[in-house]
Amino acid sequence: MIPQPVSVTAKEGRLTLDGPFSGPESIRELLKSYGLPESGTWSIVEGHGDEGYHLKADTALTVEGSELGLKWAVQTLRQLVSDGTIERTEIQDAPDYPWRGSLLDVARWALPLDFLYRYIDLLALHKLNRLHLHLTDDQGWRFEVKRYPKLTEVGGFRSESPVGHMLLEQGFDGTPHGGFYTQDELKALVRFGQERGVEIMPEIDLPGHTQAAIAAYPQLGSEEVKVSTKWGIHDIVVNSEPETLEFFKHVLDEVVEVFPFEFVHLGGDEVRGMPNEQLGWWIGQLQEHLAAKGRKTAVWDELLEANPPQGLLFFGWRDDTKAPEARQAGFEAVSCPQNYAYYDWAESDREDEPLAIAGYVPLEQVYEFEPGDVTGVQGQLWTEYLPRPELVEWRAFPRLSALAELGWRKQTLESFNERLPRHLELLDTMNVNYRPR
Ligand code: ACM
Repeated sequence: MIPQPVSVTAKEGRLTLDGPFSGPESIRELLKSYGLPESGTWSIVEGHGDEGYHLKADTALTVEGSELGLKWAVQTLRQLVSDGTIERTEIQDAPDYPWRGSLLDVARWALPLDFLYRYIDLLALHKLNRLHLHLTDDQGWRFEVKRYPKLTEVGGFRSESPVGHMLLEQGFDGTPHGGFYTQDELKALVRFGQERGVEIMPEIDLPGHTQAAIAAYPQLGSEEVKVSTKWGIHDIVVNSEPETLEFFKHVLDEVVEVFPFEFVHLGGDEVRGMPNEQLGWWIGQLQEHLAAKGRKTAVWDELLEANPPQGLLFFGWRDDTKAPEARQAGFEAVSCPQNYAYYDWAESDREDEPLAIAGYVPLEQVYEFEPGDVTGVQGQLWTEYLPRPELVEWRAFPRLSALAELGWRKQTLESFNERLPRHLELLDTMNVNYRPR
């Protein structure tokens, strides 16, 4: 299994799962959605932590755990049940880290909604419990805002996209691209995630990475721009007029209506030409606004240098020292460093590697990562060079499988490699376009 449960005691023989079901209706629904037998005694009980469970398949199936733990037990069954039977076993299980995430960038390319469902289900299979949805950037704004419809009508579309690697200057494809998600679509996606234990954290990236928003509403910036057709760090940032701050407060008012998760990510990365005090001011103002609505604020690690207000959740991305640094400064912090957790980077220079933004992050390197004393880990799928779902899957798996195990309970690389072929067979049954080994 991946992630390998904390404790497994194998027993002789197999149990046929044909007994009756008793337990929460949500669990029965989940078993049914996976075509698993609706069977066993499932109970929510105290004493297993937030996400733990205890599964016994002996003369009957019994599962005890927290509400989330029972959901993870369903995912365990997904990996163990075949033909309605399971090897007799006893499993005690709970994760080491409360945050086990994956960032998916739907701003660079408007990935199809049905893929977002599939992606969430793949996260759930790996007991990854957070989808960080990067909804806005220079090249596209994908979140419907009813008060400001041009954010998606204008900001959701660009005239063309780069051909080949941006640094090679191979020109543009001349093909318009765009799209966005309605609030109703996203609310349904949130429910689907919650049924599986996966919470969605939305990101509205600012004050940099805002060229699409400024293209839609030029008063937010200081010059007229179009939705960007280029990859790379841009110089365009929003201005700091009171009306611009109000504008983004209104945007966040709609964000929190759609996404019930306790955190909203406000970006703060790669802001060019804005003093750090002003970056800190932006985040502080909006953090206060979110706090008044009962929400907490997440940010990229650049905020460490911007006299950050207390209470932020940091995402350490520039290197693996940033999340620990944020922890030292008294913050919660998720580790997602480029050299271990950026899965838009190539694994190698092998012939079949698709075009990648950079290299290399091989699978073994992912597994070597020691997150240390942090809130959790997260694997990042930026999509500049991943315009289609099958490419995202190629890059994501099995590196995200390795990350999932780091977040749950790290084993040895040797053990991971032994279990991987079987896991890839499971991914095959779901037609996942993972990178072959
Ligand atoms: C980032 O990769 N700019 C967070």
